Amino acid sequence: MKKEQTLIIIKPDALQRSLMGEIINRFERKGLKIVGMKMVQLEDVLLDEHYCHHKGKPFFESLKKFMKSAPVVVLVLSGINAVKATRLIVGATKGYEADAGTIRGDLSISGQANIVHASDSSENAEGEIKRFFKLDELFEYKKIDYEFVYGEEEREENF
Ligand code: CMP
Repeated sequence: MKKEQTLIIIKPDALQRSLMGEIINRFERKGLKIVGMKMVQLEDVLLDEHYCHHKGKPFFESLKKFMKSAPVVVLVLSGINAVKATRLIVGATKGYEADAGTIRGDLSISGQANIVHASDSSENAEGEIKRFFKLDELFEYKKIDYEFVYGEEEREENF
């Protein structure tokens, strides 16, 4: 059990389908704390870096085209085991395989237009957060529901 931060990208399909509020609401209801959030238009340089492990795959160029087709909203979420907790809420990569109850399972039926990106490990989250956010775009604040979201042993200052 550890305090973590993770990066979420709300993709162009979610923006076009007016699903952004619904998605953010699901993360908030879980108890995850939003410590960074902004809208950005993605460009090739950043996408080449972010999706470098997919370079050479048949869908790479269409993935980039899709990710540039409208602005995205990027968030940094904080909480206990935030990477795993967030991946569970997001669901499997392909919407048509994702469990009902997950964001992708409920809102997507595509392998590419799958609504959100979520960091897949603590190490990757650190790199992805640095890729998308400057230090002064991340916020430290105390949330008033903190003592009810966590048990006594789980709490620490400024969590
Ligand atoms: P994401 O979690 O952002 O990580 C890589 C992205 O590539 C993935 O979500 C999908 O949007 C996309 N993707 C993965 N597999 C495929 C595929 N087979 N065809 C098209 N797009 C894909």
